[in-house]
Amino acid sequence: MGRIPSVVLNSGWSIPLVGMGTATYPIPTPDLVEESIIHAIELGYRHFDSASIYQSEKPLGQAISEALRRNLVSSRDELFITSKLACADSQPDLVLPALHKSLQALGLQYLDLYLIHFPGRVKCEKGLIFTKEDVLPFDMKGTWEAMEECHRLGLAKSIGVSNFTCKKMALLLAHSNISPAVNQVEMHPLWQQKKLRDFCEEKGIHVSAYSPLGGYGALWGSNLVLESEELKQIAQAKGKSVAQVCLRWVFEQGVSLLPKSFNKERMKENLEIFDWPLSEEELQKISLLPQQRLSRAETFVTPKGQYKSLEDLWDGEI
Ligand code: A2P
Repeated sequence: MGRIPSVVLNSGWSIPLVGMGTATYPIPTPDLVEESIIHAIELGYRHFDSASIYQSEKPLGQAISEALRRNLVSSRDELFITSKLACADSQPDLVLPALHKSLQALGLQYLDLYLIHFPGRVKCEKGLIFTKEDVLPFDMKGTWEAMEECHRLGLAKSIGVSNFTCKKMALLLAHSNISPAVNQVEMHPLWQQKKLRDFCEEKGIHVSAYSPLGGYGALWGSNLVLESEELKQIAQAKGKSVAQVCLRWVFEQGVSLLPKSFNKERMKENLEIFDWPLSEEELQKISLLPQQRLSRAETFVTPKGQYKSLEDLWDGEI
């Protein structure tokens, strides 16, 4: 298996273009997560996407120590580790303590990438599951200043955001001293994010795709992507799987991708996307697929809150 290609972020650090996603629900046993990550390292994965709410930081940290012990990697610097600020910690004074908590769970001195998980805030100690009553106003400017401090302290080599629209990115850029390096968003052939990708490209911000297969098996997402008849036809004609066609398409857009699977065969298959192209005709077919955002985060929409409708929350990008 060849090395996974990478690109350089606006922070100067490189990001491998395929990473392993670790969000899944119900949350699996730590042993399964650890074992899957060690296997991923054996297969050649070097980029791992975690978040405090996924409860994957601790098993990821244990997998990293075990990989070092077994000499699967010679130093922690060979890995690219992302974690995310939970919405429960999305207020300026909680950012640094939250990052310290993540680093402690991971057993690491620094993160390669720390992201604001979502442009929203909820009452403390809420994980993946919360209700509309838990939603609080989100101070984007103050929270980002605290993220910048994490970077200045050397605790996060790169900082960025997740689930930000063009409008929210523009607002953030107007108030930032350090530009976000990454915006991690839902992206797959059925939600292509063309407008956001163009915006980010113009501003020098890298886009990373979560749920590149539609996120089936997470709390959000569906099997619509993997069951798409058009994608099945392309895959069959190419002798590839639907998953590989999706991942190759994301890769060809210059976007990094974070497929999630703890299944050994699928983890291997998801890396076999670098030595074959999609044809112009196939790209054209994919560009015409009907579009649908699968991860809508409707809980953040409340009549008295910051986001009164889905239109508001996603700034029309819905
Ligand atoms: P599993 O975890 O059982 O392997 P996403 O990457 O968009 O978050 O989607 C995750 C879903 O896609 C999971 O249900 C996962 O199943 C499935 N999946 C991951 N890789 C493949 C693959 N190569 N073929 C089919 N399904 C896959």
